[in-house]
Amino acid sequence: MKKISIVGAGNTGSTAAHWIAERELADVVLLDVVEGMPQGKSLDLLEAMPIIGKDAHVMGTNNYEDTKGSDIIIITAGIARKPGMSREDLLKTNAEIVGKAAKETLKHSPNAFYIVLTNPLDTMAYLTQKVTGLPRERVIGQAGILDSARMRAFVAMEAGVSVENVQCYVLGGHGDEMVPLTRHSNIAGIPLKEYFPADKLEAIVNRTRKGGGEIVNLLKTGSAYYAPSMACVQMAEAILKDKKLIVPCATLMQGDYGLNDMYFGVPVMLGAGGMEKVIEYKFDADEKAMFEKSAASVKESHDALKSVVSL
Ligand code: APR
Repeated sequence: MKKISIVGAGNTGSTAAHWIAERELADVVLLDVVEGMPQGKSLDLLEAMPIIGKDAHVMGTNNYEDTKGSDIIIITAGIARKPGMSREDLLKTNAEIVGKAAKETLKHSPNAFYIVLTNPLDTMAYLTQKVTGLPRERVIGQAGILDSARMRAFVAMEAGVSVENVQCYVLGGHGDEMVPLTRHSNIAGIPLKEYFPADKLEAIVNRTRKGGGEIVNLLKTGSAYYAPSMACVQMAEAILKDKKLIVPCATLMQGDYGLNDMYFGVPVMLGAGGMEKVIEYKFDADEKAMFEKSAASVKESHDALKSVVSL
């Protein structure tokens, strides 16, 4: 059995463990700083396995040694912004948490692939790549699958069709400036622009942009975790099964799309080599403008990271 370690056993981390075990995709190690909590959640999940007839082993720990020999490390550890905390303070704290998670796991799993979820996503993925010194193929940020899935869910709801008939592609940074590509998105091959009147399509795009906030407002405490964790698990599955799956993920730009030295959401191919290939779309003028605006805003967040930590 393959092994996936998840750092951060909160909502996203433990839900990812649930999806992984249910699929019998890998044995899971859930690690957290809180004592007892990852052990308790893991034991509970392990005790569900006989009911569904799956043999995935799940263990909880506070000790990085237990992550030894992992094929994949998923990083979800972090804290949410608290009242009175500045964005810089949050960035600094999460950078320390993610930086430590990356360093400690690498000691025990030198061959692992990293999937980063902690927000601000693009910069935390960048930090993980810098701290580990791994090639970009092995450090990938989650976001595009989630944003695309939200758009697919809204399209399917509006059209009254199966989610399986809906393909959507959302690129760019994981924020309001994300880049939903309506021209490339379709229902059973029919472009969304042909399927929906312009105002309806615009409403779907706006709801997608604000998808994370919509859930935060409803939950009052905490943020989304079912779809974000599932997105991570799809990435892990594509790597472990060498699927050559093309999905949007945050990837280190090395001249791709004219960008450099920053993580940004673009379509990539995931397989046994991790992020095996960046797929280049041809943009029209409007798409290019949206893409550049998003890139400028993500570049700013990388600058903010560099001002609080030395890399
Ligand atoms: N090492 C390990 N775990 C840590 C550390 C640390 N240094 N610091 C905090 N944690 C743990 C917390 O104890 C908590 O259990 O990280 C977990 C975070 O879980 P939640 O607070 O439930 O947050 P969650 O909703 O899972 O989101 C985690 O993913 O999607 C992003 O924006 C989200 O950045 C956030 C992250």
